[in-house]
Amino acid sequence: MDKPVGFLGGTGIEGKGLALRFALAGVPVVIGSRSEERARSAAQEYNTFLGKPLLRGMVNRDMLASAGIVFLTVPADHAVAAVEACRDDFPSGLILVDVTVPTQIKEGRVEYLERKEGSNAELIAAHLPDRVRLVGAFKTVPAHVLAELDTPLECDVFVCSDSKEARGEVMELAKRIPSLRPLDAGPLGMARTLERMTILAIHLNRRYKKKGARYSVVGI
Ligand SMILES: NC(=O)c1ccc[n+]([C@@H]2O[C@H](COP(=O)([O-])OP(=O)(O)OC[C@H]3O[C@@H](n4cnc5c(N)ncnc54)[C@H](OP(=O)(O)O)[C@@H]3O)[C@@H](O)[C@H]2O)c1
Repeated sequence: MDKPVGFLGGTGIEGKGLALRFALAGVPVVIGSRSEERARSAAQEYNTFLGKPLLRGMVNRDMLASAGIVFLTVPADHAVAAVEACRDDFPSGLILVDVTVPTQIKEGRVEYLERKEGSNAELIAAHLPDRVRLVGAFKTVPAHVLAELDTPLECDVFVCSDSKEARGEVMELAKRIPSLRPLDAGPLGMARTLERMTILAIHLNRRYKKKGARYSVVGI
């Protein structure tokens, strides 16, 4: 059996949406949290939602010990603290998938929160031990659409990493979710563009009074 996919901070809407989609696709899923109680309660809630006991919940440390690929689904501003707290728990060769997008509200508008490293992904990379391979992905896929299981995603997911192998593994994993097409976006630095694309999607939602703007590339 495949190693489970884990979620570091899987108790929020982004973790929930991705976890539900993967669980439905037959991928074993472990929800991680700083609190065992919150992890178990989230897993129970998601299982009730699915009507099947497909997910397990455990503290982040135990989740990291059992998962093969782990999604970092914490608020962008807390990502560094979250990875620092788990530093000693990251197994060698772990693939960590960063979905974070740093935003701020300025004069009532959602704006990109600039990072001197260029992107949140590169900021996180600077705080990770060498044994962890970081991948940026799913940054442009809206969380609430992921969590609406009746809504086909019908979009592309851009995957970037400085590890070609890790990028390939995350693309293979993403393919498990129906109506989602992974596209190889190249090195981790491409997260600078991807994170800003999410800001554009948020602006489009507001302008067109929609909620689920996402990207689908034609010609590829
Ligand atoms: N909303 C979207 O459409 C969308 C799209 C693409 C990407 N994203 C990204 O998805 C990420 C998650 O969003 P969300 O709304 O699901 O987040 P959230 O609900 O605010 O937080 C998710 C979980 O992160 C954990 N957490 C919070 N602070 C932490 C810390 N200091 N250390 C460790 N864990 C911490 C908490 O879990 P415990 O308390 O249980 O540990 C919390 O339940 C964000 O970075 C966002 O930019 C969102």
